[in-house]
Amino acid sequence: MKNLHSKILFNRPVNDRYWKMAVDAAALEEPVSPGQFFHIRCSDNWKNLLRRPFSIYHFDRRTRILEFLYLVKGPGTQALTGRKPGETLDMIGPLGKPFTLPAGDAPILLVARGVGVATLHALARSAAADGSRTVAIVSARRREDLLAVDDLKQSGAAVYAVTDEDGTSAVDQVKRLAEKLIENDGFSAVYTCGSRRLAKLIQNLAVSRNLYGEIAMEARMACGLGDCYACACPVRRERGIEMARICCEGPVFPLRQAVLS
Ligand SMILES: Cc1cc2nc3c(=O)[nH]c(=O)nc-3n(C[C@H](O)[C@H](O)[C@H](O)COP(=O)(O)OP(=O)(O)OC[C@H]3O[C@@H](n4cnc5c(N)ncnc54)[C@H](O)[C@@H]3O)c2cc1C
Ligand code: FES
Repeated sequence: MKNLHSKILFNRPVNDRYWKMAVDAAALEEPVSPGQFFHIRCSDNWKNLLRRPFSIYHFDRRTRILEFLYLVKGPGTQALTGRKPGETLDMIGPLGKPFTLPAGDAPILLVARGVGVATLHALARSAAADGSRTVAIVSARRREDLLAVDDLKQSGAAVYAVTDEDGTSAVDQVKRLAEKLIENDGFSAVYTCGSRRLAKLIQNLAVSRNLYGEIAMEARMACGLGDCYACACPVRRERGIEMARICCEGPVFPLRQAVLS
């Protein structure tokens, strides 16, 4: 983990709600893994004093370019949209525990909703580099919010896009689709991010089929470094339910440990 001051290469809207940003992360010496995140100072305005966490969308090891995909939600992300190419971005990272990919080349299943696709996109790229096939169910409110679908397809993933707009994203519809894919594809693992309802569904499917799964959990963060406990959430451990800090004990947890109800 390092405090980097990285040059912004581009920062542009993808649609009316989402933006993509790339920074030059040449100064980053340690490896960056899917599931990890950077804690970013969105602006110098004192009102946005606290950093905001953003998952790695893509890290190109050759060019050292790091990309983020972000949803404009409140003052922090709004301020981030004002950052210009050539400016310096203050980031701490990489932080948190990454995803683990099972040994072998059996396919993996990703189930993402909304901006949850950002962290799973990085995983799909990593799985492709390891020679594993990825099948992704990507859920969004609107067709135009299916942002990473083209990038996922480019990395070789088979993508099933479902939206509220098309009436294809209800939990029971995704359940039928996921069941069919699990039966046909022989996945080695399943990964989810972005929706508690979908995570609960995937957790139930994984447990009933003895399929290994992981979840990237979200919580509001302050320090991002394990010191303040602002991000603590309940997780199911061997001794029972315990509080875990998402920033340093997660954000990735085994799916069976997630407390989703
Ligand atoms: C490990 C991690 C990785 C993340 N990766 C990404 C990413 O790649 N792209 C992206 O767009 N967002 C990501 N997020 C969420 C992002 O950090 C928040 O959307 C951002 O901090 C909101 O800041 P804001 O000032 O714009 O809005 P705020 O004013 O802080 O929040 C606006 C609204 O969003 C809710 N909110 C804020 N933060 C969270 C959160 N963490 N979880 C759930 N609800 C929240 C608030 O309750 C409020 O209603 C990630 C969060 C975590 C914990
Ligand atoms: S944000 Fe401070 S402990 Fe996680």
